[in-house]
Amino acid sequence: MLKLTDVCKSFPQRGTVLDHLCLEVAGGETIAVTGPSGSGKTTLLNLVSLLDRPDEGEIIYRGKPLNNFSHAESSEYRSLHTGFIFQDHLLMPYLTVIENILFPVYARKLSGGEMNEARQRALMMAERTGISGILEKYPFQISGGEAQRTALVRALINKPSILLADEPTGSLDPSNAEILGNLLKEISETEGTAVILATHSEKLAGRMAAIYRLVNGKLVRI
Ligand SMILES: Nc1ncnc2c1ncn2[C@@H]1O[C@H](COP(=O)(O)OP(=O)(O)OP(=O)(O)O)[C@@H](O)[C@H]1O
Ligand SMILES: [Mg+2]
Repeated sequence: MLKLTDVCKSFPQRGTVLDHLCLEVAGGETIAVTGPSGSGKTTLLNLVSLLDRPDEGEIIYRGKPLNNFSHAESSEYRSLHTGFIFQDHLLMPYLTVIENILFPVYARKLSGGEMNEARQRALMMAERTGISGILEKYPFQISGGEAQRTALVRALINKPSILLADEPTGSLDPSNAEILGNLLKEISETEGTAVILATHSEKLAGRMAAIYRLVNGKLVRI
């Protein structure tokens, strides 16, 4: 589904970060990317999410190079085909939990029926992730673990085919990290979502089907 071939990326002060990196991700496959701080994990996710462009090499999504995407295709790819979750939840402070979850849905032009379906999906996923009781609260009124579960539901609300997760349990205590790790795995399995997860946590990485380490700008399977 997603194929990176000889992807290179360097930054002026830093030099080469990704050096002819290759990776294939099948539909529904879950992979962890580990490696020391500064090894290029976030850089890699930024290329897949189209936040940044490679200097060389190709990223192909469902047979089409991301480089050749038109403006409309890029925005569709970002809003419908990929979902993101970061270390900090980045919820919008002036929106309630349910409004945050539905934000990516409001951004689409949906019919009333489709909108209702999305609302039902939000409620079902809230139930599943244990946040049904806080849907009308604002981010400052909920815990870090709840906020991160809200961010996960928001990332998945549009049924993306790829979930990009950058150190999603980094700011959580061990028990909330465990809950989020379990949810990530369960939901990707039932929904067939591929996951590319960057993390320092061996425990979280161990939940993914394949574990890679970024070494000298390349991915080594471990
Ligand atoms: N926009 C940028 N401009 C210049 N240098 C950058 C930029 N983005 C990243 N870098 C550098 O590239 C290297 C890789 O950074 P990256 O954030 O990808 O590492 P990481 O593996 O995600 O680290 P961490 O585990 O700390 O999150 C670092 O040396 C960083 O300083
Ligand atoms: Mg990073």
